[in-house]
Amino acid sequence: MTEPRSRSIRVAAVGDLHCTKTSEGAFQPLFAKIAESADVMVLCGDLTDYGTAEEARVLAREVATVKLPKLAVLGNHDFESSVPDEVVHILSETAGVTVLDGTAIEVLGVGFAGVKGFAGGFGERALQSWGEEPIKAFVRAALDESLKLESALARLRTPGRVALLHYAPIAATVESEPVEIYPFLGSSRLEEPLNRYPVSMVFHGHAHRGTLQARTINGVPVYNVAKPLLERSHPGGDGFFVYELPRETSEGRPAEPTEAAPHY
Ligand SMILES: [Fe+2]
Ligand SMILES: [Fe+2]
Repeated sequence: MTEPRSRSIRVAAVGDLHCTKTSEGAFQPLFAKIAESADVMVLCGDLTDYGTAEEARVLAREVATVKLPKLAVLGNHDFESSVPDEVVHILSETAGVTVLDGTAIEVLGVGFAGVKGFAGGFGERALQSWGEEPIKAFVRAALDESLKLESALARLRTPGRVALLHYAPIAATVESEPVEIYPFLGSSRLEEPLNRYPVSMVFHGHAHRGTLQARTINGVPVYNVAKPLLERSHPGGDGFFVYELPRETSEGRPAEPTEAAPHY
C-alpha cells in the first residue's frame, strides 16, 4: 500500500455491482480505472446479485486485482441466500476487502464508518413503530442500523470522515424512482447520526434510478453511487465517482470534499 502523494486522498466509490456467477472479467475495466485514479476504493452494497458464495468468489477474484485499500458494506441482495457471513469471509480473506457493519476504520488519515442501513421511508411519512409486531420489528431493524452507524461515527477522530451506506439516508437521492417504492429505498433514521456527527460526505447505492447527489438537512453531501445510475447519467463514462478529501483541516471542522475528476 502506497502513501498518497498529497495532503488529500482520492476516494473512488461505486455501489450495486450485482456480481453474478458469470461476471468473471466483467469488472476488470472498471477496477483498472479505479486503481489508477484513486487511493482508496469503497463499494456501497449489492456486491453480489443473489448473495451466494459462488458469486462472492467471482467478485473476490476480480477485486483482488485492485491494489488499493478496499472497503465495502453489504446490500440487501447480499442477504438473499442467507449466507452474508460467508460473503464477507470470502471477500475479506481472499480479496482483502474490509466489510464495515457498524464499524469504523481509518485509512490513510481519513475515517470511514459503514453500515448497510435499512428501509422505512422518509420524514414525517416514515413508518412508525406502532400496531402489529411485524411492523415494530421492521422499524426496529431501521433503528438498529441507525444506532450502529452512530456508534461507528462516534469512534472516528479524523478530520475527514466518510459514511458508507447501501440504503439512502435522505429522500432527495432517491428522487426519479417511482414514488411508491421510496419507503423501500432508505430511511430518514439514517440521516440523524449524519447530522449529529461531523461527516464530510456520504455514499450510498440501492436506488438504481435515483438522483446523483443532494445534501442532508445540515448540508452534508450525499452521493448515490449506484452503478446503473452512474452509467445512465453519464453514458460512456467510467462508472464510478472519485472525490478528493483533505486529510487535515482546521480544528473541529469536517473536511469538505472536492470532485477530483469527472470519473462517472
Ligand atoms: Fe442494487
Ligand atoms: Fe439494494
